[in-house]
Amino acid sequence: MSTPGTSTRRPAHSIESFFVDRWSPRSLLPEPIAEENLLSLFEATRWAPSSYNNQPWRFLYARRETEAWPLFFNLLVEQNQGWAKNAAVLILVVSNKKFDHNGKDAPTHSFDAGAAWQNLALQAWLKGYVAHGMQGFDYERAQKELEIPDDFKVEAMIALGRQGPKESLPAALQEKEEPNQRRPLSATIAEGKFTSSLVHAEKK
Ligand SMILES: Cc1cc2nc3c(=O)[nH]c(=O)nc-3n(C[C@H](O)[C@H](O)[C@H](O)COP(=O)(O)O)c2cc1C
Repeated sequence: MSTPGTSTRRPAHSIESFFVDRWSPRSLLPEPIAEENLLSLFEATRWAPSSYNNQPWRFLYARRETEAWPLFFNLLVEQNQGWAKNAAVLILVVSNKKFDHNGKDAPTHSFDAGAAWQNLALQAWLKGYVAHGMQGFDYERAQKELEIPDDFKVEAMIALGRQGPKESLPAALQEKEEPNQRRPLSATIAEGKFTSSLVHAEKK
């Protein structure tokens, strides 16, 4: 099991260690999360910045072994079900496409929801939990089956839980169960106009 500070990730410039220590394991322990801890993670999302302070993020969730669980779990693609079955909570991130103050389109609703999810992910990591983002689920069915109004966009799902031993994963997933790397900063930033170095940037 990887613990904070022992991963092979090395930042190229000085940053707080939790940014590099956080990663997305798939091996989770099949145990519930205390209500107080879950609320603490959602609390972290409240303090994310957003355009006009509109706070467009919304979170629907299902705790394991509750009535709502199958509704969420059955949305996942088979590959994600294979490991996310052990999550303590499955969370669906939704964002409001309109501003509350004037009903007009909010161009940054997804951007703002992304900031809120990152708050949750980092707070989870700092509390000893894993928050693993997922795109592998049926977006249309989520919108319909969870009765999400048209003004709200389904953004992503999150599997939340305590990290478990790598050995409990199927062999193919065990191979991938380690922190990955990042492309260099030079392929991500440009002072001034867009440059060719930003196109099709290599991953590492
Ligand atoms: C929005 C989003 C969707 C993702 N979808 C999946 C997914 O469906 N299945 C999966 O196993 N991992 C998924 N991931 C995990 C990413 O592959 C992972 O975050 C990325 O490789 C970076 O690794 P790290 O989170 O360990 O730093 C997703 C992550 C995000 C943020």
